[in-house]
Amino acid sequence: MNKPFGNCDPKLSDYVARVYTPEDDVLVEIRARSAAAGLPDIQVAALDALHLEVLARAARARRAVEIGTLGGYSGVALLRGMAPDGELDTIELSARHAEIARESFRRAGVAGRARIHVGAAAEVLPRLASGGPFDLVFIDADKEGYPAYLDWAADNLRPGGVVLLDNAFLFGSLADAPTGDRAVQIRAMQSVHETLARGGRFRATVLPTGEGLAFGVRV
Ligand SMILES: C[S@@+](CC[C@H](N)C(=O)[O-])C[C@H]1O[C@@H](n2cnc3c(N)ncnc32)[C@H](O)[C@@H]1O
Repeated sequence: MNKPFGNCDPKLSDYVARVYTPEDDVLVEIRARSAAAGLPDIQVAALDALHLEVLARAARARRAVEIGTLGGYSGVALLRGMAPDGELDTIELSARHAEIARESFRRAGVAGRARIHVGAAAEVLPRLASGGPFDLVFIDADKEGYPAYLDWAADNLRPGGVVLLDNAFLFGSLADAPTGDRAVQIRAMQSVHETLARGGRFRATVLPTGEGLAFGVRV
């Protein structure tokens, strides 16, 4: 019999969180200040932020792009894992979210290494291409945009560079038939997985975090 894909026993995640202490005071403060400012509570989970930090370190990332900044929580995690002179370009549609993120980067001591681009990712990404090739791209924004963002990552990552896509399980809807309110998102996310798994540009897998973290290495 095959072993299960993931494990959602809270005893285990509590243990891991206790031992690996994924959140320090800086990250706790970003979450609290973002909530107080009325931002939606949709930043990555604390252990997922630690995954991002460690994966950025494993990829020896010096140049990274994030799509979906929100209040800067995951951006701080990525920058912590990147080389000391590593730089992050992070894209955010909402000027209000970007303003909170700017303060988060300042408080985390990484403001000099983070460039926030306010606008729709589809418009901003083409302008970033000349700064590549990149070592890491983290996709965490509108699900309908994921196929185009993944194509951009394939075109702009160095060989061996890493793409990470959050919400890879689409809030539990990934395997559903594309009908109803979620049809467009389901189609987009299924197409992303097809491209990532079989498009020939990545060797990829899905890490069974709560949200699902798709993880591809550019071949
Ligand atoms: C899930 S949140 C990002 C969370 C963040 N990565 C974190 O974990 O701290 C998604 C963000 O993407 C932004 N967004 C949505 N559509 C976008 C688009 N087309 N271009 C750029 N940003 C977008 C939203 O405003 C929101 O702040």
